[in-house]
Amino acid sequence: MSTYSSIFKYYIWLCIVLGGRGAIAERNEVKVRIDQLEELIQTNNEGLLQLESNWNSVRNRSTAQIEAHCDSYISEQKSWLSACEAKAKAASVRLKESEDRSGILLQNLTSCRINLAGGGQDQSELQLRLQERDREILELRAQNEENLLNLRAAQLKLKAYDAELEEYLPQSCLPFGSATGLYRIKLPGQDPFYVPCDARFAGSGWLVIQRRMDGSVDFYRNWTEYRAGFGSLSGEFFLGLEKLHRLTALRRFELFVYLEDFEGEVRYAHYDNFSVGSEESFYQLQSLGEYEGTAGNSMALNVLQRFSTADKDNDTWQEGSCARRYHSAWWYASCSAFCNPNGKYFKRRQLSTSTRGKGIIWHQWHGFEETLKFVQLMIRPISASV
Ligand SMILES: *[C@@H]1O[C@H](CO)[C@@H](O)[C@H](O)[C@H]1NC(C)=O
Ligand SMILES: *[C@@H]1O[C@H](CO)[C@@H](O)[C@H](O)[C@H]1NC(C)=O
Ligand SMILES: *[C@@H]1O[C@H](CO)[C@@H](O)[C@H](O)[C@H]1NC(C)=O
Ligand SMILES: *[C@@H]1O[C@H](CO)[C@@H](O)[C@H](O)[C@H]1NC(C)=O
Ligand SMILES: *[C@@H]1O[C@H](CO)[C@@H](O)[C@H](O)[C@H]1NC(C)=O
Repeated sequence: MSTYSSIFKYYIWLCIVLGGRGAIAERNEVKVRIDQLEELIQTNNEGLLQLESNWNSVRNRSTAQIEAHCDSYISEQKSWLSACEAKAKAASVRLKESEDRSGILLQNLTSCRINLAGGGQDQSELQLRLQERDREILELRAQNEENLLNLRAAQLKLKAYDAELEEYLPQSCLPFGSATGLYRIKLPGQDPFYVPCDARFAGSGWLVIQRRMDGSVDFYRNWTEYRAGFGSLSGEFFLGLEKLHRLTALRRFELFVYLEDFEGEVRYAHYDNFSVGSEESFYQLQSLGEYEGTAGNSMALNVLQRFSTADKDNDTWQEGSCARRYHSAWWYASCSAFCNPNGKYFKRRQLSTSTRGKGIIWHQWHGFEETLKFVQLMIRPISASV
């Protein structure tokens, strides 16, 4: 606008100047000048338009730029906002969740408190029951003690009764008659003990004092063991010298020696006054009485001999020990051992001279070398003496 107004002012000034002069030449001159001016104006106008258009484009461009910038700014802000919103939403969801959780926790806490309170009741109930149990236990204990006292009293009575009964226990197998088995007998001043009674071989009432049958028990033993006895009463055993002495000291006993060889033949030797002395006499074989039988009187030489074991040589052989020589223990004299019931057990019939006298032999039947399969020594009170 300022360009148009300055051109117009210049034109007014020219008109005033030229009117004062008045010449055609001058008028032509002016006319040229006007043309020139018009051309100039035209040019200026074009430039002005160009400028305007330029300005507009510049202005449009910047506007677009600003708008674009704003748009991006706005969209940025929008996305930021929506992100914020999303975050806020998530936060609120989480808040809700945690609220819910804390609600549950509170509920749980409350119910827990309630349970605790209720539990208290249970406990006191439990305590009551426990106290009841304690009382019951105390009562039972008292009863138990009473029962125990009664039991002890009963046991004492039973013992007294047993002791009384024991006095009536038999002193041999005779009262058991035709029974075969283990029975308790009792001798005066002694504890009762078991003995095998055997009615299978020679009638009833026999008390077994020695048995050999399978070699399961070692008979090569010392004095102490022969005194006390050893082995198994239902298998191989020796009753014991002390018992033999105490039994035969009471009354007159008969002795039955039952023998069987490996061919299954059976023989016997019977003596009617079997008696064993005390330990002071080294369990001397005091008497045998009369012999009777089918095996031969192989024990005849043992009468009045002391008992000898490997560790206690009481035989009449000066040079050595018959017990060691015959791997045994017996009422040896000077080693002419015609019988050896406690000798080494051979599971088969032996005829070797190397085992001479060492096995279970009965000389008057099978000589010094042939061993026997089965031996059983039994005693029984002579009926008249009971
Ligand atoms: C400037 O913008 C106006 C209005 O939007 C338009 O009519 C004109 O043609 C534009 N000019 C240029 C140079 O872009
Ligand atoms: C609340 O108690 C319920 C039921 O006893 C259980 O399943 C849940 O895990 C507990 N919640 C919490 C937060 O302890
Ligand atoms: C007799 O033999 C037994 C068993 O082997 C043993 O314990 C004991 O000491 C022996 N006694 C003597 C006096 O040698
Ligand atoms: C039996 O032997 C003893 C010695 O042990 C003797 O005192 C008693 O007279 C004998 N009895 C008979 C009937 O021979
Ligand atoms: C019996 O044997 C013991 C021990 O070997 C011995 O001390 C004692 O003198 C013997 N007695 C007789 C009578 O042989």
